[in-house]
Parts: sequence; C-alpha cells; structure tokens
Amino acid sequence: MKGLGSLAAKYNVPIQSHLDENLDEIAWVKQLHPDQPDYTSVYDVNGLLTNRTIMAHVVHPTDAELQLLKQRGAGISHCPNSNFSLRSGIAKVRQMLSEGQKIGLGTDVAGGYGTSILNTIRTGYFAAIARSSDHPDDKYLKLAEIFYLATLGGADVLGMKNTLGNFVVGKQFDALIVDPLARGSPIDLFSHDDVKTIFEQFINNGDDRNIIQVFVDGKSIHRI
Ligand SMILES: *[C@@H]1O[C@H](CO)[C@@H](O)[C@H](O)[C@H]1NC(C)=O
Ligand SMILES: *[C@@H]1O[C@H](CO)[C@@H](O)[C@H](O)[C@H]1NC(C)=O
Repeated sequence: MKGLGSLAAKYNVPIQSHLDENLDEIAWVKQLHPDQPDYTSVYDVNGLLTNRTIMAHVVHPTDAELQLLKQRGAGISHCPNSNFSLRSGIAKVRQMLSEGQKIGLGTDVAGGYGTSILNTIRTGYFAAIARSSDHPDDKYLKLAEIFYLATLGGADVLGMKNTLGNFVVGKQFDALIVDPLARGSPIDLFSHDDVKTIFEQFINNGDDRNIIQVFVDGKSIHRI
C-alpha cells in the first residue's frame, strides 16, 4: 500500500478503492492493522487518502473517519445497489451532504447489477427512504438531491466540478435530450404536467426510448 501511495504521489493520479462497506470487512481490516484507529487511517498512513481519492461505499464510517475524509478532500461514491444486492447497509447520505462531503453516485458493478445511472438514482432514492424509516433524523433525500449526486456531485468526486456536472455557461455541454412522447415511451403525460413533473416522470419511469439525443462535451454522439 505504501508503494501505491508513492506511485499516486509521483504521477498525481486518482486513487479508487473501497471503504467501510460491511461490518465483517471492517473487523478484518482491524485485525490486519491493529495499530491503526480505523479503516480510513489505514489508507491515510499509506498516502492513499488525497483530494483525488474516490472511496466506494463508506456505509459504516465513524465520525472521525468522515472528518478525516473531509480533511483530505477525498470523495465518496455512494452505491445504493450494494445494500439491495449484498445487504451492506445504507450510507448516511443525509449526514454526508450536510457535512459538505464530496459525494456522488456509483453503480457498484459487479456488486450491483448494471451500469445505468438512471437506475442508481432510483435505488438511491429508495435507499434513502428506507434509511429514514430506521433513522428518523436522516430525512430522506429529495429527487433533486439524488439528481445532484448523479450529476454535479459525481463531477465533484472526480475533481471536475469546474468543467462539468451542470449547464453553467463555459462548462462542457454534456446533455441528454429527453422526449417524454418518444415512440414507445413508457411515460403517460397529463395536459397540466409542468416541466418539473415531466422531469420527475422521466427519472421514475423513463428509459432509453426517451433519450433521443446525447451530447458529450458539446458534440452530438448519438441521435435517433
Ligand atoms: C489537492 O491537493 C494538492 C496537493 O496537496 C493541491 O496542490 C491542490 O490544490 C488540491 N486541489 C484541490 C482541488 O483542493
Ligand atoms: C438495507 O440496509 C438496511 C440497514 O441499513 C437493512 O435493514 C436492510 O435489510 C437492507 N436491505 C436489503 C434489501 O438488504
């Protein structure tokens, strides 16, 4: 791990790993590194906790670990599917957002079952609702907050929030053109639905049939 830390410093590259996913794994890390106070510190003492580090999961961190992640500027990739596929538990996303942690969404392939970020928005939404019923202080996430995690939050975790993640003028234009009335669309519209409602319908019910054009960095790369 020290060797990896030196390589990361030498080449200034991002570091991606996995942290505090389930209780057995946390106990195992403690057994391997009895001299360290917690799992996060094991990465830290080896130079692997930088502002280019992305840690998947972070389901069962202590407050000290969250503080250390924030201090180092490390990002968290919240993978809600990990709970539904592996029963890992549900991350404290509400707390992380209010602490100002760098956090976005991850699909957890192959622990999860697919790479669709639209699907991960939905599972993230239900994971937050499930968590709030066990932890009433963790108010569940609004759709706008989950959408933030899927877009600007992800850009932040990647250290790219100044160049992508929303439609601020001057950033890369990464966009989907969504047609709620596309051929075969699974969305039913009512005549009084406003743009916000139609957006929610796409997030909850839409699929690739509704995506009629895809732009990456201003270039149209797909069109039907
Ligand atoms: C990340 O850390 C490096 C090295 O400590 C520092 O030079 C850089 O400004 C930091 N970047 C951000 C976005 O905080
Ligand atoms: C998700 O995690 C919670 C604990 O946070 C647990 O009670 C629940 O059973 C898990 N859900 C599934 C489907 O495993």
